Amino acid sequence: MHILVINGPNLNLLGIREPELYGEASYDDLVSLIEAEALRLGIVVSFVQSNCEGTLVDAIQGAYGTMDAIIINPAAYTHTSIALLDAIKAVGLPTIEVHLTNPDEREDFRKVSYIRPACQATITGQGFEGYLEALRFFVDIKKL
Ligand code: DQA
Repeated sequence: MHILVINGPNLNLLGIREPELYGEASYDDLVSLIEAEALRLGIVVSFVQSNCEGTLVDAIQGAYGTMDAIIINPAAYTHTSIALLDAIKAVGLPTIEVHLTNPDEREDFRKVSYIRPACQATITGQGFEGYLEALRFFVDIKKL
């Protein structure tokens, strides 16, 4: 199983960015943690992080025919991007939406997720652990 992990804008600044919300660990720490769990689970992971909406759309399109599933934290584009919703629907790959915080408990403008209807599951408010839970979700459904 090969899973693409996509992270959107400003997540490259993890550790620097609002640590009281997002924690003190870096994006590289997140990648290492996911890689270690993937190794343990016997699956392969690839990563894309971009601050550009079009690059994220290209990454989703590029997953078609090459990846088995997508884990995505679209960051602020969650709340604005119909293009990401359309891309996820277009490729038809099982997709899990992950957020480090719980956007539903923050400002009103974070309460809308355009991609949520196209995702198998949404995991919020669990920090880095949410990405690991998403990996395990895909491994578990494969076993059923
Ligand atoms: C986020 C929540 C979004 O509202 C925010 O714009 C982010 C990060 C999260 O992981 O909690 O950049 O997706």
